Amino acid sequence: SAAEKGGYEYFMLKEIVEQPRALADTLLGRVAADGTLTLDEMRLTPADLREISKIVIIACGTSYHAGMIAKYAVEHWCRIPCEVEVASEFRYRDPILDHRTLVIAISQSGESMDTLMAVRYAREQGARVLAICNVNGSTIPRESDAVLYTHAGPEVGVAATKTFLTQLAACYLVGLYLAQVRGHKFGDEINTVIGQLAHMPEQVEKVLDTVDPVRALARSLADADTVLFLGRHVGYPVAMEGALKLKELAYMHAEAFAAGELKHGPIALIEDGLPVVVVVPSREGRSVLHDKIVSNIQEIRARGARTVVIAEEGDEAVRPFADELVEIPAVPTLLQPIVSTVPLQVFACELALAKGNDVDQPRNLAKSVTVE
Ligand code: G6P
Repeated sequence: SAAEKGGYEYFMLKEIVEQPRALADTLLGRVAADGTLTLDEMRLTPADLREISKIVIIACGTSYHAGMIAKYAVEHWCRIPCEVEVASEFRYRDPILDHRTLVIAISQSGESMDTLMAVRYAREQGARVLAICNVNGSTIPRESDAVLYTHAGPEVGVAATKTFLTQLAACYLVGLYLAQVRGHKFGDEINTVIGQLAHMPEQVEKVLDTVDPVRALARSLADADTVLFLGRHVGYPVAMEGALKLKELAYMHAEAFAAGELKHGPIALIEDGLPVVVVVPSREGRSVLHDKIVSNIQEIRARGARTVVIAEEGDEAVRPFADELVEIPAVPTLLQPIVSTVPLQVFACELALAKGNDVDQPRNLAKSVTVE
């Protein structure tokens, strides 16, 4: 009913605007004012956590993109090798697991069959499994050693939005907690990031307040055949998520590339008027990456691409090469996906609506895939 949708025509529109609240609820009670993290529900003792020698993240769809982003954060903060793999590939390749391996299964529903099978397989091999899930008491958390719930509330739209942002928050919490428990040479950085993470709900609010021009842009691209997405570092999985959303909702050909791979093939696809969305890394810390992507934008634009650039506010370097500039708040590099994903969600949703599609129930898709 209209009331359930909070006055919005579609649940997806409502779920996009609920993201600051969903994030705040997921952080609530876990981040203390002094920067200490409390994740008691993880049920793994600090001694268990100190023993971990490898992390393997398994997930499907949008949850897999959260896992890809987690890898960058976890390896940087914890210095524990971290692999990430789609759950449907995982158990068929004879992966190397033992009791010192922490498997993190990310699943909004807690019911994806591929992820569940991967969890069972990992436990049989003696690995410990931590689930990151949104649905209380669902199968994957019940079959895991520990669970960290996201508190996004029920998500009705088939395409994940608020649950993705909360999965990111949960992944950051796990990474920061591991770093805290294991002791880390980046101790100061860890405390700073915890403080910044606590402020992310406000940053997402800012994005929502300024995202309207993206709707007009999306409508103007409703007849495009293809949209390409480029990103690097954590912006690469964000680009993948932007492309997935466009496939799911607008039934359009959309593909994401790591910007550094452009010259190894994708640049041949660039032709006059082709829309290319570029997720520009924050300038903090990894400015080398920032400069490299600016030259990528220059290269594709010189070949006719219509560039849609998502960059930090005040990023003057990208402006001359951006046909469309979408500004997001400046936040630390590793946390940027929380803000850079939001315009891509709005973009795909609005473009799909312009095509007359039902964004809550896209054709051929299910909210939770309980068959292999
Ligand atoms: C389906 C949904 C996606 C979701 C994926 C994984 O494909 O349509 O939105 O990302 O399943 O679901 P899970 O519940 O395991 O996160």
